[in-house]
Amino acid sequence: AKTVLGRRNLVFVGLMGAGKSAIGRMTATLLNIPFVDSDHEIERVSRMTISELFAAYGEEEFRSLEGRVIKRLLHSGPRVVSTGGGAYINERTRRHIKKNGLSVWLSADLDVLWQRVNKRDTRPLLKTENPKQTLENLMNARYPVYAEADLTVVSRDVKKEVMVDEVLA
Ligand code: S3P
Repeated sequence: AKTVLGRRNLVFVGLMGAGKSAIGRMTATLLNIPFVDSDHEIERVSRMTISELFAAYGEEEFRSLEGRVIKRLLHSGPRVVSTGGGAYINERTRRHIKKNGLSVWLSADLDVLWQRVNKRDTRPLLKTENPKQTLENLMNARYPVYAEADLTVVSRDVKKEVMVDEVLA
């Protein structure tokens, strides 16, 4: 897998709760290349949390910052990058990812995602009256776009190792 990548990045995309960071981190360890989570990088450079950024600047500004951060991360590959759920949906960011990376969509069904995001409610987009419905709406809107990724792996409740093996295979 490392040879296939060359200097390109392996970029995990998909909805919140799909396991992008956990599976990304383990994949990076096995490939022996650096791992970075774009949300963490955004929080590090802005010295604000994702929630604070949404509250202070709104989603549009957040997307533009996210795009710039991801573009920079992709320029010093190979790396494994896990992206925030909306990153690949943004056209400019998606173009950067396609140009500099091999993308893996971690797809999951609603109940798997819900079970995972339910516990922690740090996601600004899910602060709604009916967050499960919001998540379902996001699935409907975004799944056709995530489907443009180079690989699709179905995220489910199995050991992380199993998921990582599927990605590497
Ligand atoms: C978002 C997903 C979050 C974070 C922000 C917006 C989205 O990342 O970037 O809350 O639009 O789906 P995770 O997918 O890592 O939760």
